[in-house]
Amino acid sequence: MKVTVHRKAHFNAAHRLYRKDWDQEKNEAVFGKCSNPNYHGHNYELTVSVTGLIDPETGFVIDLKVLKDLIYYEIEIPFDHKNLNIEVEEFQDLNPTAENMAVVIWNRLRPKLKLDLELAVTLYETPRNFVTYSGN
Ligand code: NI
Repeated sequence: MKVTVHRKAHFNAAHRLYRKDWDQEKNEAVFGKCSNPNYHGHNYELTVSVTGLIDPETGFVIDLKVLKDLIYYEIEIPFDHKNLNIEVEEFQDLNPTAENMAVVIWNRLRPKLKLDLELAVTLYETPRNFVTYSGN
């Protein structure tokens, strides 16, 4: 019997979508306003979902305080109020799209969780646009 627990988090961050090997005209054609050379911001909403067996001793799949702290230190502190392109190592040469961000977030959290727990990440870039990644 596996149960999924979810923890929501929030951060604001700036980014720019562009490729260094494309000129500004092509970057604008593909990435639109998101390629603005002066960057722009989003209010990101993150849901981290952890699936596993209920520990018979505690009744927990994972201690939500542990999960909360993990998200805080691994994601919120490094991402919140940051320029993702400049200040987050993974995006030095990787476009900070919601897709790539979900993978980066998953990769940061996965090593911190016990192997028998499954991890999924849902990232909202806007209230209507969101992506999910579960390591596949
Ligand atoms: Ni954007």
